[in-house]
Amino acid sequence: MENYDLVISGGTIATASETFKADIGIRDGLIATVGNDLIGEDVIDATGKLVLPGGIEAHCHIAQESGMGLMSADDYESGSISAAFGGNSCFIPFAAQKKAESIAQTLETYDSRAASKSVIDYSYHLILTDPTPAVLQELPEAFDRGVTSFKVFMTYATRISDAQFLDILSVASKHGGLTMVHAENHDMLTFMANSLVKNGCVAPRYHALARPALAEEEAINRAISLAGLVNAPLMIVHVSTPGGAASVAEARARGAFVFGETCPQYLFLTHDDLDRPGMEGAKYICSPPLRDHATQEILWQHISAGTFSVVSSDHAPYRFDGTGKFAAGRDVDFRKIANGMPGIEMRLPLMFSEGVLKRRIGLNQFVALSSTNAARLYGMHPRKGTISVGADADIAIWDPEEVRVVGEMHDNMDYNPFEGMEITGWPVTVLGRGKRIVDNGALMAKPGDGAFIARDRTDLTGMSGTRLAETNRTRKFGAEVLS
Ligand code: URP
Ligand code: ZN
Ligand code: ZN
Repeated sequence: MENYDLVISGGTIATASETFKADIGIRDGLIATVGNDLIGEDVIDATGKLVLPGGIEAHCHIAQESGMGLMSADDYESGSISAAFGGNSCFIPFAAQKKAESIAQTLETYDSRAASKSVIDYSYHLILTDPTPAVLQELPEAFDRGVTSFKVFMTYATRISDAQFLDILSVASKHGGLTMVHAENHDMLTFMANSLVKNGCVAPRYHALARPALAEEEAINRAISLAGLVNAPLMIVHVSTPGGAASVAEARARGAFVFGETCPQYLFLTHDDLDRPGMEGAKYICSPPLRDHATQEILWQHISAGTFSVVSSDHAPYRFDGTGKFAAGRDVDFRKIANGMPGIEMRLPLMFSEGVLKRRIGLNQFVALSSTNAARLYGMHPRKGTISVGADADIAIWDPEEVRVVGEMHDNMDYNPFEGMEITGWPVTVLGRGKRIVDNGALMAKPGDGAFIARDRTDLTGMSGTRLAETNRTRKFGAEVLS
């Protein structure tokens, strides 16, 4: 009988498609076998536990300046530790281009911010804020070095125009990159915010009124149309509205390569949280804003129906003090309060407890939404996001019965928006390439144990979506548009 470096024995394994009882044999950081009665140098007894692919956090802001120029509270060390305690073995934060900066410079900056710090494997999505012709020419080089996805903004000071958006999407379509978009109509937001502030409506609660659902819905529809024109696959991040989700569902149903993401804050919090006493509401300012209970129910329906490919945290940590939320002062109007909230450690426990255990989604769907789909979309599958022979042994072992009341997390934040919730089911051990990162409440990994993962281009084979005939390059229509 073969000996393995590590055997996980007696657990119930769940992937995105199957649930079964078996042992996992790990050698040299890889899954060497899945079988029965395996013998290892080291053994983790997973009896009564769930053995799942480690989570992949595909939307988080780590060691990154916001659109307002504010540095996030978490760096690659604290951010990755918090992610690991929340069941993740890999994450993909953003590398944000500054105005007039080349992509090479941006990536160099983030390489230095991440190197020797992360306890889990990582990659980056670029954020493009200044898509000059030279920058667009550089983009395929970034894809070649494994940074195959990037985000653009339709609002904030970092927004791009529709013309720039089309140029970017064309390059992505031609060279195989995946464009992610923050979709809100900037002029609608500015109009609303100015009207509110002019009338003295400046408290945090007005942040939600200033960013109406219509602004997101209009921008999502426009983004889908722009991507459709040049046949570019598109990921709409942090969808928060029924209309936005319906547009993603409709685009997918007619065969467009459109993907959607939503986040726990839109499922568990509402704009009532922005109306907490004093400035407490500032803790809940994020964009798009929190909506209402009816929206939560509709977003859950879209999750269970498969509209969304991923549920991500959009961890954007700004402390409740002058380094974060109140960097522009404490008595400022809602427009000047830092946007974003933490949640990298909460994403999976929330989705397991309130999704799987409350029977809104199945266990396999939980795995798909939290790991496998991100691995596929962002070019890491089958190395990551699944439990199969030859894959990295990135595994999260969950106790499905452990109950905890949410309190402080392991991030560098001074508040947790989900504090006080009772959550059932927590990850107890997380492995990265066969090594314990977290084990029974203790951090076992060191900063630098996580490695940069060069990602492949998204393989759209087998994903819903058909190339629209008008601009199908293989049929030569629209070739000039796309060249
Ligand atoms: O409010 C948020 N979500 N801040 C982070 C930046 C973004 O738009 O994702
Ligand atoms: Zn965004
Ligand atoms: Zn974000």
